[in-house]
Order: sequence, then C-alpha cells, then structure tokens
Amino acid sequence: MDRRLFLTDLSRAAALCAVVPNVWRVTHRPRFADNPFQLGVASGDPTATGGVLWTRLAPRPFEPDGGMDGTRTVVGWEVATDDNFRNIVQQGRATAAPELSFSIHVDVDGLQPDRWYFYRFTTGDAVSDVGRFRTTPADGARSPLAFAFASCQRWDQGYFTPLRHLANEEIDLAVHLGDYIYEYASPVNAVRVHHGLEIRTLDDYRRRYAQYKSDADLQAAHRRCPWLVIWDDHEVDNNYAGTIGENVMESTEQMRTRRAAAYQAWWEHQPVRVPRVASWSDLTISRTINWGALARFWMLDTRQYRDDQPCGDGSKPAACGVSANPAHTMLGTAQERWLVNGLGTSHAHWQILANQVMMAPYDSAAGDASIVSMDQWSGYPAARDRLLRAVAEQAPNRTVTITGDVHSNWVNELRADFARPDQPVVGAEFVCTSISSGGDGNDVAPQRLDDMLRENSHLKWFQNRRGYVRCAVTEQAWTAEYRTVPYVLRPDALVQTSSAWRVEHGRPGITRIV
Ligand SMILES: [Fe+2]
Repeated sequence: MDRRLFLTDLSRAAALCAVVPNVWRVTHRPRFADNPFQLGVASGDPTATGGVLWTRLAPRPFEPDGGMDGTRTVVGWEVATDDNFRNIVQQGRATAAPELSFSIHVDVDGLQPDRWYFYRFTTGDAVSDVGRFRTTPADGARSPLAFAFASCQRWDQGYFTPLRHLANEEIDLAVHLGDYIYEYASPVNAVRVHHGLEIRTLDDYRRRYAQYKSDADLQAAHRRCPWLVIWDDHEVDNNYAGTIGENVMESTEQMRTRRAAAYQAWWEHQPVRVPRVASWSDLTISRTINWGALARFWMLDTRQYRDDQPCGDGSKPAACGVSANPAHTMLGTAQERWLVNGLGTSHAHWQILANQVMMAPYDSAAGDASIVSMDQWSGYPAARDRLLRAVAEQAPNRTVTITGDVHSNWVNELRADFARPDQPVVGAEFVCTSISSGGDGNDVAPQRLDDMLRENSHLKWFQNRRGYVRCAVTEQAWTAEYRTVPYVLRPDALVQTSSAWRVEHGRPGITRIV
C-alpha cells in the first residue's frame, strides 16, 4: 500500500474513531456460526517467485458486511509444497477489514520458479478450502505453457458447467476476459435468479459477487490454478464507454459513482496485483504477466478509456459517424502508447493480447454493404489499424489476441488492413464463447456458416455453443482447442473438442487440425 493511501486510510479511520469507538478493535479469535470461507479461495497474477492469494470472509454473504458485523479480523495464510500442509514454506497473517468487504489479498514472494504450491487460510476455528497455484518459469526460460481462457458467466442464463470441466484440465493458468458477473435483475422464470434488482451501489455489487462466488463450479476452477482476470462491461453496466452508461439518463457524475462502486467490488473479489488508487473510479487494471521468456500477457482494458461508440452500440454501416476519426480511441492514449511501445521493446517469444471485444471485423451484410458491431474494435477502426500496424512491424505472427464478450466461438486471422484481403496476415485472434450467457446456444446451419466465411475472408470458423478455449504454447507453435458443452440450462453436460487450430511461430495464418 502506498504511503499516501495509508495516510488517507488512517485519517478516515481516525474520523470514524470519533463516532465508532471500536474501529481499531481487531479480533484474533473470532467465532463463527457459519463458514466464513464459503465464497472459496483464489490465486492470480503469478510471478516467478510468487502470486496473489485471495479469499473473503463472509459467513452470511447477503447481509451487509457479509455478516462480519464490522469487526476487523485476523486471518492466517499458509503456502505448502503438499496439500496436507506438512511442508509449509511460507505463512503469515493479514487483517480482513470492513472497508474492503473483509477480502484478503496476500502477495506471496520468495518461492521457487516453475513450481506448484498449495495454500489455505484460517481464522478462529475455521479453515478454508485448499487452493493450488504455481509460479511461472524463471525469467529466461522458454518452458511451454498450457492455459485456458473464458468469459461471460451469467448466473441467470445457465450453469457454469464449462468451469467444472476447465477445473479438470491440465493447465498452468486460466484467463478470464470479463463479464465475471452481470449487473441485471433477473426474470422470475430464469434458470437461477439473481439476488436483488439491477445493481448500482457498492453493497449491491458486493452481494452480486457473493452470489456468483457461491457457485461450486466457479470455486473449483479457482482452486485449480492461478487466474489472470480483466473486466468487460457487465462488471459495471452493459456496453458502457468511459463514463457513458447504457442508460442515457445516467449523468457522468452518476456513472463515475457507479464505476467507483463496481471497480472497488471487482478489486475486492479478484486475485489481482492491481494497485489501489485514491479514487476507485480510476482503477487501472492493464498490466503484463510474463511466462518466463516464452510469452507475455498484455491484460487490456477496452472499456474505461474508450470514446463513446459511434452511432450507438449496435450493428451499423462500417463508416458511421466519427468511426474514421483517427482520434477516436479504444484504449485511451496512455494505454495505447504503453502497449505499442511495449510490443516494440518486449523480448517475449509470443505476445498475447488479453482483450475484451472482437478485434477482427465481422461484416454481417451480404455483398458490398458492410454492417459491423460498433461496440467491437470495428467501431474504432483507426485505433485498430494503428495497433495492428504495430503488431505487423514489431511482432508479426507471434502475437495472438484472445477475446471474449461476444458469446460465440470465432477464429480470425488478423490483417494489417482488413479492407484489402491481399494484405498479409500479421496475427491470430481466438475468440471464446461464453461460460453460460445466452443459454444453450444452437447449431449454425451449414449454409449460413458458408455465407459468413465467404463474406469475411479472414474468418476461419464460427460456432454458437458454450465453453472455453484450451491452449498449448511452445516455442514452435500455438494450438487452440475449442472445448464446448451441448447445454447449460441443465447441469452436468459433458465437454468435447469442437475444433482445434494451430499457429506456427513466425508464420502467417491459422491451420485447422481437428
Ligand atoms: Fe457477456
């Protein structure tokens, strides 16, 4: 915690002291009638020597304070090389505090590179589930990487079955590309109903996270391996852009307040190494995670700094409104410079852009007309061209974009200029479907798929089932397997591989292998 923030907290606490005499009371031996660890455990943002370990005390998750009654509580943590905790290699104590909804973020350091570890928390007589996490390979190593990526888990539209299967994969880490929660109220006939109405306040967002975190499949996937998490729109408000909300009646000031609540609750519930800032509405989540020298993840934020969608957030003619204006930004100036300059100076063998909305255009109109989604990168074509030019110059055909948001599976070759299909392919984009958003999905008629592929020469495949993508990355090649389930409206669906793809390092194009 930086000094300024610490002092802010101190003065806030001092002010509270005047009215609440027990604010400094810290409980070392709390007693719980209900399990305080029922929201599970998680780990994330691994380094070669550590990672972030997360839990939150919430014995009664839907009550204010999660049922903690305002009392600061000491939590012990342990890291071991075995799941029986006979060989504990690190341990310590942290304090769960009401101003952070009794969440715990322990940034462990001093471990060995390229190793699996186990962790757990204790408080009073309560012991948490055991989680498993690993460190990354050491800085120079090009050891292979196996990971899965996913997005869009909507509680009231289906079971999180894909996460149950993800939890059984032999993977080093998982990436979640956003829509970890949805902000909506639920229809009464939903498969599982959201607690409460549309969420706006800090308490609302905390309760919504508590509901999602109660899911057994989600908890299992978190216990399995470290996660890298970014947010998309629904962690705040559907298709918001900067401080412009979905509802045009919501003022900039109201959106900033809502964003502050949403961003704070996100931070409290995710195992991230994201420094807190004085104003939660300006929380910066873009960061890099290195997998030795093999790969660098660029964790991007395409929501907070973007200009408003041109002509609204629907599908519109490609050249609509200000879309051609070079100043029309998706990443914001600072993040774009950070990424473009970083791609130029990074020595990572593969560059991975962990990104929310689809980068490749999708033209849904037959013939010369061009209709694209204004909420995706297609609404920001000048910004996309700048980024893909940088990829072409600095890391061609060793940059892979992984994308969520759209609730369907897509495989896209990325070109420096999509208007000219004769231009070379400079990168690959694998778009994962949702965990559950949209319900079961359906089979696309072969004729429709043919039409889609003909109209979009960079598009290799499309499918509308729920699931996630499993990737294996080596020095030579990247394989991506689309793992899907036939239904999510009922639990217990089995998983299968719907298609698999290969990118050779340094060579243009994506090849289908299954
Ligand atoms: Fe979504």
